[in-house]
Amino acid sequence: MSRCPLVLDTIHLNRQVRATYERVARAPASGFHFRTGAAYAVEQLRYDAAELAALPAACTERFSGVGNPLRIGTIPAGAVILDHACGAGMDLLLAAKAAGPQGRATGVDLTPGMRASALRAAAQAGLLDRVRLHEGTFEDLPADDASVDVVISNGVLNLAPDKPRVIGEIVRVLRPGGRLFLADVVLDRELAQAARASADLWASCIGGALTEGALVDLLTGCGLHDARITERFECFAGTDLARKFHGQLHAYGANVLASRP
Ligand SMILES: C[S@@+](CC[C@H](N)C(=O)[O-])C[C@H]1O[C@@H](n2cnc3c(N)ncnc32)[C@H](O)[C@@H]1O
Repeated sequence: MSRCPLVLDTIHLNRQVRATYERVARAPASGFHFRTGAAYAVEQLRYDAAELAALPAACTERFSGVGNPLRIGTIPAGAVILDHACGAGMDLLLAAKAAGPQGRATGVDLTPGMRASALRAAAQAGLLDRVRLHEGTFEDLPADDASVDVVISNGVLNLAPDKPRVIGEIVRVLRPGGRLFLADVVLDRELAQAARASADLWASCIGGALTEGALVDLLTGCGLHDARITERFECFAGTDLARKFHGQLHAYGANVLASRP
């Protein structure tokens, strides 16, 4: 299931994904298929409360990740970082702080409202010396070959209709030895074909999710090395979606590490 089923209209899906995230950018408290914001990040994803409290609300209140990529490994001082769908930029700013004044953190996102929030947050945090925001997609990253030390990804690979292409882009921009810190929704069993073909379920971050084994195989098959799950998170706990499926959602968040040989 690394490519979406032919019955799913990918243009319609892209429109739906963009509309969903424009709504989160405009009205972050309006409700989503999993919890959003700083309290969720601390309570369910093990982010550090003090570190988040030091960031502008423009990024933390729109956070909509499903794991915690910054727990996967350390960001070295001076690192070049790319978040390939950064949303409002919470991980991006944390990574920029870790990389220090010699580091560079670039965020790419499809949704204008998310990029605007990330840029506002970077300005408020005094990080414009090292943070850049670019319009773009993770299918065609606006970055040079072998130019990045760490690619960050949180809650977005599941949204990609063509996952080999997205991972191919990550491999292209990573320098040899560069690392992927990825968090995504994973499944504990394969979905029924009807669920795979539902644009609603794709936009809810479940229809396009993979099992742990399929995700690790996909990363490896696309040329990444030593791919492994490092941590798991109950990102859907307490949501309407979990209640709708009577706790039988079979989906959760996972941190995954891989590197370019
Ligand atoms: C679940 S949110 C996660 C955002 C962010 N990583 C975070 O942790 O808050 C998904 C993000 O992916 C972006 N997105 C969806 N499809 C994309 C694509 N093809 N290229 C780039 N960004 C995309 C959306 O605009 C949205 O900001």
